Amino acid sequence: MSLERVVSAADSGIALVVPQENLIVENQFLFVTCQVGSEPTIKKHLAQDGLRFSFSRPGFLTFKLPKPHTLSDPLSLDNPFVRSFGLCLGKVVAETVEAGADRVWNEFSNIQFDRLHVWPRDRAAAGHRNFHPGMNDDASAAEATLLKNAPAEQLNQSENVPAGNIARRNDRVLDCILVDPQEWWIGTHRVDRWVQRWPGGFWTADESVEMVSRAYLKMSEALAWVSWPIKSGQRCVELGCAPGGASQALLSHGLRVIGIDPAMVDAKVLTHPNFQHIRKRSSNVRVRDFQEVQWLTADMNIAPSDTLDEVERIVCHRANRIRGLILTLKLNDWNLAEQIPSYLERVRGWGYSRVRVRQLSHNRQEVCLAALRPTQKTRRRTRLHRPPTDRKSTD
Ligand SMILES: C[S@@+](CC[C@H](N)C(=O)[O-])C[C@H]1O[C@@H](n2cnc3c(N)ncnc32)[C@H](O)[C@@H]1O
Repeated sequence: MSLERVVSAADSGIALVVPQENLIVENQFLFVTCQVGSEPTIKKHLAQDGLRFSFSRPGFLTFKLPKPHTLSDPLSLDNPFVRSFGLCLGKVVAETVEAGADRVWNEFSNIQFDRLHVWPRDRAAAGHRNFHPGMNDDASAAEATLLKNAPAEQLNQSENVPAGNIARRNDRVLDCILVDPQEWWIGTHRVDRWVQRWPGGFWTADESVEMVSRAYLKMSEALAWVSWPIKSGQRCVELGCAPGGASQALLSHGLRVIGIDPAMVDAKVLTHPNFQHIRKRSSNVRVRDFQEVQWLTADMNIAPSDTLDEVERIVCHRANRIRGLILTLKLNDWNLAEQIPSYLERVRGWGYSRVRVRQLSHNRQEVCLAALRPTQKTRRRTRLHRPPTDRKSTD
């Protein structure tokens, strides 16, 4: 008979079952962190995937998985509003940061981690009274104390682990979410997606840059996420470019930017030699003027279907061949989240085979839709390499 130890978080109803002979951690709960306001849409979609909602605070949710998971079982979630997720191990309630850190290392002493990720749940809607989701002083203090008290056998501290908290692919991460300053929920994830490398999915940029607006961060994060094959000197058109933060990020990638917006652009961007401002609404520009443009970005404060109309007018003109799109779609009403599949379908219909959507950590009540189509060269190569039977059936 296998000896089992149950490290319980009785008050949370979550138990950590540890068969001692092989130290497999089994659990049946999942945690999710997200923007305040997106919880109902996440609950609805995860319920359709068979996950039963268990507990929530604004910006933090737990769900019961259909069956127990071990640490080695793959865990994936495909929802654009989920900023981070992992297996939920329980919670620690402590009066002081020192006591909290000691309890974490004691209660989860059976698991070895490569990285520690600590972050707070969002306390307000993104942008509400200037609230920006991300690290705060409580989370920084908890992180510092957890690191200081980490036993060497529990947190990989070998020399070949780079400093800092950005994880590498396949790292096993200990997640500590400050649901309240004295209530820490503990979880774990293995990094198999780009965004899981950052604590809480909060991608971080070089903030020493003198930003024209926070749109600089949003576009920098989007460019890091899409990982486009950008070549210096290529052209990008930006619909809704004022005051210019996003253009600033595009320019810093070596792109030549044509910004379209009836509003004023900041002098820092306006005077950049690679920036051209067309001071018009996008509906008033001549679409055949974009024949030399490879990339298009849009961030207009209009309804998503209107943004898609404006983009379609340009990308579907026969003279143009735009390779990739980054579109910010404003969800002025959270119910618009239900329309996301139809937005994706519409963009695929324009010939973009790789279409993705995600609420970036620097997005407000909006999502980022990214689309890429193969170059003519790649398409020709794919056709030539297709087996003859396959070629016949699709030609
Ligand atoms: C959220 S701001 C854009 C922020 C900008 N991307 C940046 O990096 O600073 C929205 C902008 O969309 C512009 N806008 C709204 N409708 C537009 C349209 N039809 N054509 C062009 N710009 C439009 C507004 O003038 C406004 O400057």
